[in-house]
Amino acid sequence: MEPSLVTSIGKIQLERPVMLASGILGISLDVFNRLYRSGAGAVVSKSLSTEPWDGYPNPTIFGINGGGWINAVGLSNPGAPNFAKMIEPNKDVPIIISLVGSIPEDFSTMVEQFKNSKVIAYELNLSCPHVAKVGLEVGDDPELVKKIVSTVKNSTNVPVIAKVGLGTTHYLNTVSAAIDSGIDAITAINTIRAIAIDVETQRPILSNKFGGLSGTPIKPIALRCVYEISSKYDIPIIGCGGISTWEDALEFILAGASAIQIGSAIGDNWIHVFNDINKGILQYMKRKGYSKIDEMIGLAKKS
Ligand SMILES: Cc1cc2nc3c(=O)[nH]c(=O)nc-3n(C[C@H](O)[C@H](O)[C@H](O)COP(=O)(O)O)c2cc1C
Repeated sequence: MEPSLVTSIGKIQLERPVMLASGILGISLDVFNRLYRSGAGAVVSKSLSTEPWDGYPNPTIFGINGGGWINAVGLSNPGAPNFAKMIEPNKDVPIIISLVGSIPEDFSTMVEQFKNSKVIAYELNLSCPHVAKVGLEVGDDPELVKKIVSTVKNSTNVPVIAKVGLGTTHYLNTVSAAIDSGIDAITAINTIRAIAIDVETQRPILSNKFGGLSGTPIKPIALRCVYEISSKYDIPIIGCGGISTWEDALEFILAGASAIQIGSAIGDNWIHVFNDINKGILQYMKRKGYSKIDEMIGLAKKS
């Protein structure tokens, strides 16, 4: 029998374990459709705020010699109300809405705005490393995380995921706060705060100076986080950070992830990356005799 790529992230069931990460192509229903039909098991929207945000002036993204990107786009987005209207016609694409805000009410207001849209989960961005008063500044405050997660959980029956990153508070404290307040799953990790400097102008390259590092350079760190979270907590995990091949994807599954997200690799390999990864995982499962993704989750932790 052909192995199955179906995976469960707690109550969220996906036909395939590989999804689009937030902020990469996540801005229109047409694109979501295209990605779903190209092998993505789900798509995560750009992080949305209560009002439209312009983001930072250019340059906002810089490619690093040897692979990887530093970006400080500044969470530019059309705002939750506009985005909710745009995805209302959605019929069958599994969409996860990423939300960003400073206080619990920002998040609950936005969840209310999506009540007529077909979404399979919300992902709370507690980890963007380059915008003040949101993202990582929120994730670094476990007490605020607790309030946000309980407020969102009280506002919806749709599963809620917390996306964590590496800030000044140990990220496991953020994970623990989110779990205490009833979070359904954790995405790990976001970009890592970084900088690039131009030697001729002797100035930081990005207009915001600091940005977030993504792509292959962060893969071993993201993998370490997934391994640590799954070793310490009984919570479904979505792995994210530097995944570009089926082997990378499997490493995250073996470390304890039930699903994975792809961001930067789309910039490098376009959307073929979804089906390439699906095919590679299937062939591996056949070769090793697995019939379900579930059988492989966390195997690397076995002593
Ligand atoms: C240009 C760009 C924009 C991003 N925007 C968001 C965002 O809006 N919300 C979010 O949670 N993460 C955002 N991210 C982070 C990605 O979702 C992902 O966590 C990170 O890039 C690591 O995965 P990767 O190495 O596969 O890119 C962005 C990343 C990039 C490169």
